[in-house]
Parts: sequence; structure tokens; C-alpha cells
Amino acid sequence: MADKTDQPKAQGFARGLTNYGDFDFSLYLRRSFAASMGYLPESLEKPIVGIAYTGSGFNNCHRHFPELLEAVKRGVLAAGALPVDFPTISLGEVYLNPTSLKFRNLMSMDTEEMIRAQPMDAVVLMGGCDKTVPAQLMGAISADVPAIQLIGGPMMTSRYLREEGEEKLGACTDCRRFWAQYRAGTVDGTEIREIERRLATTAGSCAVMGTASTMACIAEALGMALPGTAAIPAVHADRLRAAEASGAAAVRMIANPIRPSEIVTRDSVENALRILLALGGSTNAVIHLTAIAGRAGIEIPLEWFNELSETTPVLVNLKPVGSHYMEDLFAAG
Ligand code: FES
Repeated sequence: MADKTDQPKAQGFARGLTNYGDFDFSLYLRRSFAASMGYLPESLEKPIVGIAYTGSGFNNCHRHFPELLEAVKRGVLAAGALPVDFPTISLGEVYLNPTSLKFRNLMSMDTEEMIRAQPMDAVVLMGGCDKTVPAQLMGAISADVPAIQLIGGPMMTSRYLREEGEEKLGACTDCRRFWAQYRAGTVDGTEIREIERRLATTAGSCAVMGTASTMACIAEALGMALPGTAAIPAVHADRLRAAEASGAAAVRMIANPIRPSEIVTRDSVENALRILLALGGSTNAVIHLTAIAGRAGIEIPLEWFNELSETTPVLVNLKPVGSHYMEDLFAAG
């Protein structure tokens, strides 16, 4: 019989197994099947950082996720753990019928259950498009495994030359603006098709302070994403560095466990509400933040929200309420 004092620690691929020893069949099975993936025995001794991966051919906002995933893995490996990515539902905002919101809770359940069910010591959540960020945060808070979110980052703008001069274009406020002009007859069919090809030209989420960018800033304000990472454009090298740093941070969270339920508190929710108001952020974020806080048992009464809005000025001038883009917020620092 195996000596109980010699039992391996319940981490890595053994996480979640209870009452096991060296001769336990479940452990033996897991080791065998993990070995079939080509890991060296010493790799299997390392703690595991799961990576909730949401790359999808139906999610243009996440088209750079393969490269980001490599950077996260690099950060995890360099910090001494084993990165293991796993797929979850991905919600590409514009392709979902009847509406993406219908699937947010489904994605949160998928994320929660896959974090809980699979053997990981910490998790990096890779999200970006509108509903993916709140869904992952909701799931992670309920699963309550040490977690950090890596935001995909916003798109860059592009340029369009008109008779009146050069226009900056960025999804999706400008989509609506030009569609309205087309319907009014001030932009013709040829021009609208040209504009159509220039509205969204890089990887990343919408280039304005829409729901995706607002939720990215909220994730950071809550303490669930690394400081200073919300506004980095998707295609900027800093975004890759943020990915690598997020992987390394997840490893540190294994050594000094801090769980989402300890991060998402009344104070951090208040910070997030302040940020939402100061940014003139998306009204959808109120719905999402209420759901995220709700997973941590925190209510957001409308009176509280109202009180904060009375004392929080709008500090940025970004579309759709203002005139600039996320790349300008990033440049402003
Ligand atoms: Fe993905 Fe706008 S379509 S953020």
C-alpha cells in the first residue's frame, strides 16, 4: 500500500481527485492520458494554468487570439507552470441571432463549469467582444478558482478620403453614421460599399467606447485584469506583452492564492461603477456589471448608481458620446 504521507499534492492534472494515492486508478488514468499528449514527466509535476480560449471563425474581434494564446503560454511556462488551453463558447456580436445577449449566460455557465470540472490551479480568461468579457467574469466568480482576464483589445481606425477631406473610420459608431447618410441619400451605393470595407480593418473589438471597451475597462477597474491593459490596441506589441504578463500573473496567483470572490468586492464594484460613469461608457455595462456583482453576492441598487453618477464627471471624449477612439485613449495614457 502507498504511504499516505507520500501522496502527491492535489494539483496539476491530479487536481480535483480526492482520496487518491500512487496506486489510485483515477490518478493512473489521468497520468497515462496526459502522457499521451506528449508531456515530459517533469512537466506533469507542474501546476496547471488553464486558458479559456475563445478564438472562433465566427468572432472577427478575436482573430488575433492564436498569437495572444502563444504569448500567454510563454508567460505561464517562463513562470514555471504548465499552460493548458481549452475552448469555450465564443460570442461574435454581429453574427448571433436573434441577439448575442441571449447567449451571455450560456457562455458564463460553460466557462464556470469548465473551470470547475477540469484540473487547473488557476485560469486565464481570454475575452474581448461585447458579451464575452462579462460572461467570463461571471463564470470565473462562481467557479472561484484564481483567475485573471486578458482583454483582446480594440481595433485601430482606418482612413477614408472624401471630397470634404480625409475621414477617420472606426466601428461601430461610424457604421451607424454612414448607414444613416446612405439612407438619407447623401452617400451613394458605390461609396457605402467602399466605406463598408474600411470600417473594421484590424483584429480587435469595436474601436469606440462601446460595450466591449467599457467592459474591458470595468474588468481592469474590478481588479480582474492587469492594470493599464484595457485600452491597448489589439494589434499593438504591448498587447502581446500584456498577454505574457497575464500568464505569469496567473502562476503567481497559484503560489499566493487570491480568488475572484476576494477581488470582486463592494469596493471594487464601486470603482467599476465610477469608471463606467467617468468614461461615459455603454449602458449595456450596467446590466453586465449587475450580473457580475450578483455572482459575488453584491447588489447594485439604482439609488447607489444614481448617487455615484451625481458625483462623477465624464472625463473622456470618446465615441459614441464624444468624438475620439480607443486608440486615442491609449495614446493619452
Ligand atoms: Fe465585437 Fe463590436 S463586434 S466588439
